[in-house]
Amino acid sequence: MDRVKNKVAIVTGGASGLGKSSAILLAREGAKIVVTDIDEENGNEVVQHIRNSGGEAIYIEQDVSKENQWEMVIETTLKKFGKLHVVANAAGIGLGGTVEEVSLEDWKNLLDINLNGTFLGTQYGIKGMKETGEGGSIINFSSIEGLIGDPNLPAYNASKGGVTIFTKSAALHCAKQGYKIRVNSIHPAYIWTPMVENFLKAQGDVEEGKKQLESLHPVGHLGEPDDIGYGVVYLASDESKFMTGSELVIDGGYTAQ
Ligand SMILES: NC(=O)c1ccc[n+]([C@@H]2O[C@H](COP(=O)([O-])OP(=O)(O)OC[C@H]3O[C@@H](n4cnc5c(N)ncnc54)[C@H](O)[C@@H]3O)[C@@H](O)[C@H]2O)c1
Repeated sequence: MDRVKNKVAIVTGGASGLGKSSAILLAREGAKIVVTDIDEENGNEVVQHIRNSGGEAIYIEQDVSKENQWEMVIETTLKKFGKLHVVANAAGIGLGGTVEEVSLEDWKNLLDINLNGTFLGTQYGIKGMKETGEGGSIINFSSIEGLIGDPNLPAYNASKGGVTIFTKSAALHCAKQGYKIRVNSIHPAYIWTPMVENFLKAQGDVEEGKKQLESLHPVGHLGEPDDIGYGVVYLASDESKFMTGSELVIDGGYTAQ
């Protein structure tokens, strides 16, 4: 119940899917949570759920790609809870289409959220954690798509590949500076969340698409959000204190093939 007791954690994209699960499980393990998202209604619902379960949480409206909003989120977090120990950069979007089909505008928009948003979350997270002076853990959401290619996900591949190696750069810097701030990436395979469901809807037949995705995982099924949330709790907690610049792959065997 207290694996992250009294730590203060910002979870971006906390209104839905993997961010939501991460926020709820971190709260259950004793952390105070700042849920941020562009989806106010669902973000507030997650906060209410945490409060109803006896936890502490606030919601802040934030577009992760906007630098001034990161300044505001760190300021508000420090004002409300006095400290910052964890940033989980879970906000993200998907986009299908081959390299021949994707428009430059859509490519840039995706990179702005998935890659630039994670860069800003890491940069401002370090700032807030340095002010706190108690070290910390930054968890960047990459994907199996940040490790291997997919012919139908060029922009997503580029963003998540960027997150994977950027995470190592930031981790090395923090280690060399002696900040006691760890930076790691987490790499889910397909997890059943609104992102995946909407992606399949856009492609056509959801049931058929789901079956096809399931068949790509050696375990024969998709993951659940909590499969990733538990990984986030591990990375956020001091149990992972020797882990930095590394990759936590949770993928039902997807990349073992
Ligand atoms: N679901 C999967 O199979 C899977 C696999 C690997 C990696 N991921 C990654 O995990 C993260 C969470 O994905 P999910 O499946 O939970 O998706 P989701 O769509 O369920 O949740 C993503 C959340 O991010 C928010 N968001 C989108 N753009 C934003 C912005 N500009 N600023 C702030 N918030 C924004 C959305 O409102 C939503 O609440 C993403 O980074 C995704 O790329 C997901």
